[in-house]
Amino acid sequence: MRSRVIVEAPASSANLGAGFDVFALALGRPKDRLKLTRTKSGIELSVLGAKLPTTPQRNVVGAVTRAVMTGEKVRGGVLLTLRKGVPVGAGLGSSAASSAAAVVGMNALFDLELPNKKQIEYAGVGERIASGAAHYDNVTASLFGGFVLVSKDKSFTRIDTPHGLVLCLVVPRLKLPLQKTRFARSLLPKRLSVDEAVAAVNAASRMVYGLAQNSIEEFGAAMNGGFVDHYRSVMIPGFEHVKEAAMKSGAAGVCISGAGPAMLAAAKRSKAKNVFDSMTDAFEKEGVKSEGFITRVGGGSRVIEQE
Ligand code: HSE
Repeated sequence: MRSRVIVEAPASSANLGAGFDVFALALGRPKDRLKLTRTKSGIELSVLGAKLPTTPQRNVVGAVTRAVMTGEKVRGGVLLTLRKGVPVGAGLGSSAASSAAAVVGMNALFDLELPNKKQIEYAGVGERIASGAAHYDNVTASLFGGFVLVSKDKSFTRIDTPHGLVLCLVVPRLKLPLQKTRFARSLLPKRLSVDEAVAAVNAASRMVYGLAQNSIEEFGAAMNGGFVDHYRSVMIPGFEHVKEAAMKSGAAGVCISGAGPAMLAAAKRSKAKNVFDSMTDAFEKEGVKSEGFITRVGGGSRVIEQE
């Protein structure tokens, strides 16, 4: 029986322009780290590296842990220490990473042998708190790694990504509403026109085709065709200029990462540095400070220490 486990869970980018609430990609970095220690009873939580609520009901890690304990009839308690590595409110799957870490940690600490769907369901509890709507894209990528295509019933498929794919993530410093994901979801229309639906089917199909062809160009091109960025780009001053700069510097495609405001460019390794610099320069020209990083596709959440 384990008394303590430490789990790492990666950031992720959802939607990829072409698959709103369906596609997501685990990133190689940054990561959240969660230590779970068995106690006699209750849930205690401390958070390092970000200002987040520590009352278990108000924090996704606490809420997910409670859901697992109740759902799986776990006896005893747990002390949680969350070290946030994934920036909060950037569109990089921060709440999903913390939620995935809680599920994988509880699974290991209490030998629960949770099936994949159950893991997604529990991690989704955190997403509901964070965004007001259950969607499983980020949590599935953060749990299992790679590119995932996930359905509302929590079944999912992992698809290999093109060899040499590099991701440039640039996060503009913007003042956005506190409930940013809720806000970003409120920008979307309740209904799409037939033309928009046709374009969305085309973009999603093209993205899967790009993956099947192991083609960074096709994968990137598909990012430009969905509907979600069209409605949400109003959140990001200079969106079109940043996108144009990235494409001119050799990006294969550009989209909003999840609910934003981070922007993601897909590129070949040889182009990545130029693409990244062109995006931060373009934001600078708009009078917007930004920061970010270059990374690759990442693996899923995993236990890195246990005793
Ligand atoms: N698919 C979600 C959205 C991801 O774009 O609203 C953010 O959590």
